[in-house]
Amino acid sequence: MTALLEVRNLSVAYGAIEAVRDVSFSVEEGQIVSLIGSNGAGKTTTLRTISGLLRPKAGDILFEGKSIADAAAHEILEKGVSHCPEGRRLFGRMTVEENLHLGAYVRKDNGVAKDMERVYELFPVLGQRRNQKAGLFSGGEQQMLAIGRAMMSKPRLLMLDEPSMGLSPIMTQRIFDTISELQSQGTTILLVEQNALAALALSDRGYVVDLGRTTLEGPGHDLLADTRVRAAYLGED
Ligand SMILES: Nc1ncnc2c1ncn2[C@@H]1O[C@H](COP(=O)(O)OP(=O)(O)OP(=O)(O)O)[C@@H](O)[C@H]1O
Ligand SMILES: [Mg+2]
Repeated sequence: MTALLEVRNLSVAYGAIEAVRDVSFSVEEGQIVSLIGSNGAGKTTTLRTISGLLRPKAGDILFEGKSIADAAAHEILEKGVSHCPEGRRLFGRMTVEENLHLGAYVRKDNGVAKDMERVYELFPVLGQRRNQKAGLFSGGEQQMLAIGRAMMSKPRLLMLDEPSMGLSPIMTQRIFDTISELQSQGTTILLVEQNALAALALSDRGYVVDLGRTTLEGPGHDLLADTRVRAAYLGED
């Protein structure tokens, strides 16, 4: 079976700085796959390269079996890859509804209004406050909006970079529940998280990224039980 996304021996540099040296992983349709690893490991760089915001120095990125390594960012979005960035990157002076409309800008079909209602079903607080400016919202609410905006392109693959960053435990749980819900509704998810415990617990597969390389991989539950993962990422001796 062809994977929905396959990253092969990816290497990416910022000038002389090699941020990603040898990252390989694949995401099958319908899965949640996590990339975990410490600060500076190269996780965000990997997602930004898949999105077409950075170019690989070596290696390849295949979506549905075809290389997207040279494709423009808007083409990659049109193919069905959506990116919910680290730090959310909302437009604080624009309303919830305007932010959601921006997420749909590449679409040519007429299902946008219906999908906006789906986002409001998923996150009722966004529906209630649809005409308020995004900058007024709490961190958790902003994360909901960032996920909602990413869903507005109707992605086949949703990439989430640190969705739980800075959130309370309750809000973190809410976001992870939403990720499971999106999976059950048919979206494939590539998740980058520092919260390795929560991410691996809901992942079909996980990969550890260390100094720009994928070093360990396995089903989420197997990685959770791995003593090396527990020592490095869950603070255990
Ligand atoms: N724009 C940039 N210019 C130069 N170096 C960069 C740039 N962005 C990231 N780096 C460097 O590339 C490496 C990988 O960074 P990246 O942001 O991909 O890591 P990360 O795994 O997402 O980390 P974190 O968990 O802190 O978000 C780091 O050493 C970082 O300092
Ligand atoms: Mg990052």
